[in-house]
Parts: sequence; structure tokens; C-alpha cells
Amino acid sequence: SLQLTLAVIKPDAVAHPIISDAVHQRILDNKFLIVRNKELQWRAKDSQSFYQEHAGRFFYQRLVEFMSSGPMRAYILAHEDAIQLWRDIMGPTKVFRARITAPETIRGHLGLTDTRNTTHGSDSVESACREISFFFPDFDVSRWYEEQ
Ligand code: CMP
Repeated sequence: SLQLTLAVIKPDAVAHPIISDAVHQRILDNKFLIVRNKELQWRAKDSQSFYQEHAGRFFYQRLVEFMSSGPMRAYILAHEDAIQLWRDIMGPTKVFRARITAPETIRGHLGLTDTRNTTHGSDSVESACREISFFFPDFDVSRWYEEQ
């Protein structure tokens, strides 16, 4: 059965169409169903609120600034086991690890730094639900599952 995840192409990638097109192509190649997608830009307060769980970490300030530094593209993706599949395609968060251990992944191939790491993906069913609602407030996740 289909599962939903939230995928985001971050500002470092959207700033360079050749990069964001490559990420979009990975979505198509892996046969995800694109349920919704839109371009948007955050204010610092959106970034702070989305990454609340990281408040206090050494990278929080730079993460908040980076994520509100330019436009992003957000997708609601559907696929069997979509959450894990998208995370496997993205590769490890840390770009050094990604380059060495998973050069074929998005972050291994295209990630710039641990912060400017090209994409985001939900890490659990609960965070997918929360994150989809955050990015697409008009989208009813429960209703979508009911209709499948
Ligand atoms: P993301 O998957 O969006 O979730 C949290 C983000 O914090 C992560 O991607 C990175 O952009 C950022 N992040 C996580 N760990 C680090 C780190 N060690 N240094 C800098 N940024 C980080």
C-alpha cells in the first residue's frame, strides 16, 4: 500500500536549476507519485518552528538562516514504503559520510555541507504527517489515506 512522505529540495539546490532538476529526475526515476508540489520561501520564524527539535544544537542558527535564505520546492510523495525509500535515495545527512559511503545518493553526489545538504525527507510516519501539514496546511493526510 502507498505511504506518504514530505520531500524538500533545499535552497542550495533550488538556486541551481541543474541541481534541482537532477533531484526532480530522481523522484521520477524512482516512480514516486507526486501528490502535491510547490515552491515557497520561509521566513526565519517558519524555519525556527519547523526545526524546533534542533533548538540549542550547534548548527541550529546556521540551519535556520540557510532554510530561510531562498526558495525551496516541497513535495508530497507517495510510494510503497515512501519514507524509507526517499531517505535511502537522499543518503546520509553528513556530506563527508555521504560522499565516502554512498556517492550515488543525492547528498553523496550533490550535497555541499552538513547544513547545505540539498534535500530533506521525513523520518517517520508521525513526522511525515506533521511535516506535510506544515508545508501544505490545506492537505488532509488522514483523508488521503482513507481514500486509498
Ligand atoms: P534535515 O534532514 O533537514 O534535518 C535537520 C537538518 O539539520 C539536516 O537536514 C541538516 O541540514 C542540518 N544538520 C544536521 N546535522 C548537522 C550538522 N552536524 N551540522 C550542520 N547542520 C546539520
